[in-house]
Amino acid sequence: MDTGLTGKRALVLGASKGLGFGIAQGLAEEGVRVAIASRTMDGSKAAAEKIGHDVLPFICDTGKTDQVDTLVKDVMAALGGLDILVLNSGGPPPGKAQGVSSDQWRNSFEAMFVNLVRIADAFLPGMVEQKYGRIISVISSGVIQPIPNLAISNAVRPALVGWGKTLASEVAASGVTVNAIAPGRISTDRLKQLDAANAERTGRSVDEVAKAARAGIPAGRYGEIEEFAAAAVFLASQKASFMTGSILRVDGGQITAT
Ligand SMILES: NC(=O)c1ccc[n+]([C@@H]2O[C@H](COP(=O)([O-])OP(=O)(O)OC[C@H]3O[C@@H](n4cnc5c(N)ncnc54)[C@H](OP(=O)(O)O)[C@@H]3O)[C@@H](O)[C@H]2O)c1
Repeated sequence: MDTGLTGKRALVLGASKGLGFGIAQGLAEEGVRVAIASRTMDGSKAAAEKIGHDVLPFICDTGKTDQVDTLVKDVMAALGGLDILVLNSGGPPPGKAQGVSSDQWRNSFEAMFVNLVRIADAFLPGMVEQKYGRIISVISSGVIQPIPNLAISNAVRPALVGWGKTLASEVAASGVTVNAIAPGRISTDRLKQLDAANAERTGRSVDEVAKAARAGIPAGRYGEIEEFAAAAVFLASQKASFMTGSILRVDGGQITAT
């Protein structure tokens, strides 16, 4: 499939490892000029070197507005605008819905919503003017089917979906699409951390927890980063020009709702 992505420009947030890294790698392999960001320059540089293809490393903690604004300025200077923006960040700590402090709610909302939208707003006018844009949010299956003990994720991520759906109709006629991808359980460090936390909370071994989790996935296994990234590359491509306002599931059939 010719994705038509050669020469396009992308920024992928939260891309030193895991899903963001996989997306950056997938886009770079399609000839996209990719900028990546994470909370440390060392992490971003190491990831950029691993990917090759002249990927540009940046620092940006999505919880820090000053870093977000600097990133926008630096990426604008380096690439002159964007064709593809991948809104991704670290996952929030696990925990119950009860007893989350107001500060924790505010910080999570800032890092997982407010500042992601701030970045999108900075690049959107250019996308609209050039009549090509792809905004892709990495969300979670918990948006469709809330996940026990992940209250912050279940509560905050739907804001990104509501924003994206509204934006999608505002910019659809300008060749800009806005979609989200919902990972089920994809093998990353984040998933290992969640399985370890779950094991500790329930007094089981990590293997037992992972075995029980796999049993709840019709495909019978966790997904691979490349399988997730392939969906993002497709959404970024010219081929996905009539898909907007959608949530694409990459979950091995885990979400039971239609
Ligand atoms: N993997 C799954 O199955 C799954 C399922 C549902 C939802 N998700 C969500 O998808 C997102 C990516 O998950 P993942 O599995 O790829 O996680 P991961 O392996 O932990 O990677 C997270 C990436 O984000 C960066 N990061 C962390 N906190 C950040 C922050 N505040 N600002 C900017 N970058 C930050 C990390 O780099 P540094 O630490 O170097 O900054 C890293 O590059 C998360 O929001 C996660 O909750 C994942």
